[in-house]
Amino acid sequence: MSLVGTKEMFEKAYQGGYAVGAFNVNNMEIVQGITEAAKLENSPVILQVSAGARKYAKHNYLMKLVEAAVMETGLPIALHLDHGENFDICKACVDGGFSSVMIDGSKHSFEENIAVTRQVVEYAHAHGVVVEGELGKLAGVEDDVNVADEDAQFTNPAEVEEFVSRTGVDSLAIAIGTSHGAYKFKPGQKPRLRFDILEQISQRLPGFPIVLHGASSVPQQYVQIVNQHGGSMPDAIGIPEEMLRQAASMAVCKINIDSDLRLCMTAAVRKHLAEHPDHFDPRQYLADGREAITEIVRHKIRDVLGSSGKA
Ligand code: G3H
Ligand code: 13P
Ligand code: ZN
Repeated sequence: MSLVGTKEMFEKAYQGGYAVGAFNVNNMEIVQGITEAAKLENSPVILQVSAGARKYAKHNYLMKLVEAAVMETGLPIALHLDHGENFDICKACVDGGFSSVMIDGSKHSFEENIAVTRQVVEYAHAHGVVVEGELGKLAGVEDDVNVADEDAQFTNPAEVEEFVSRTGVDSLAIAIGTSHGAYKFKPGQKPRLRFDILEQISQRLPGFPIVLHGASSVPQQYVQIVNQHGGSMPDAIGIPEEMLRQAASMAVCKINIDSDLRLCMTAAVRKHLAEHPDHFDPRQYLADGREAITEIVRHKIRDVLGSSGKA
């Protein structure tokens, strides 16, 4: 078994009304924690690597860790570049053995986004690698945009057919109200996703896999554990899991989760060190961090994404 692309994964997910989880990896414990969960749930999984992760852990270390996970689990695992910002990083990941890359041209104009995305698709497809593009901008709570501006940031359904046909992308990330990080909405603000936009997009692109970034739910119980053990995180509001379940039952085939894993791993490590102030062997507290990752990823696969048993 070797790394797989996402084509078959997404076809099955679309038909089956579920989504495949794409979890960010930065070190061995995170890779092991996620893939142990996928194995226990017999689920396909996407491990994704950001530019920051490549800088932190180095390309070859991550590559070999993920290959080891494929050997250990025998599962269909895709290794994906998350938010590639230009052709060069996408090319480096294609050349370096990834099975999927994202070119995030969302900060560019429509025409420039098409041009860079097309360039990546031509190179990646020639090497058997699939490509995710992005149309629309994910806002952050710190961006402080008014409602009219906010609407302008969402993916415009009228543009999606032209974007997909001119670029040749294999999947499309869209903006419908999610955002990156732990603070997705202002205190007191009610989380809302634009399912009407998702519906219009899927009508224009029948059968085409849609990707949702910024999909952490930021469970309050983990924030509490952090704060009970020396942390001082402000209250955070994420995407309610029932909304993600709804998206997974629609055209969304890939759901990106990073912040929730960071949060629950940190909560477990803080708790361990607070309860065992004499411990100084990293294996002791990192084992708890790894176990916490397995627990939350199992929950996401089983109760949110619906991909249990679909490997
Ligand atoms: O979408 C961003 C991911 O959460 C990766 O974050 O760039 O800090 O590794 P990072
Ligand atoms: P979260 O910050 O909501 O986990 O989103 C992660 C993501 O979109 C990675 O690309
Ligand atoms: Zn993202």
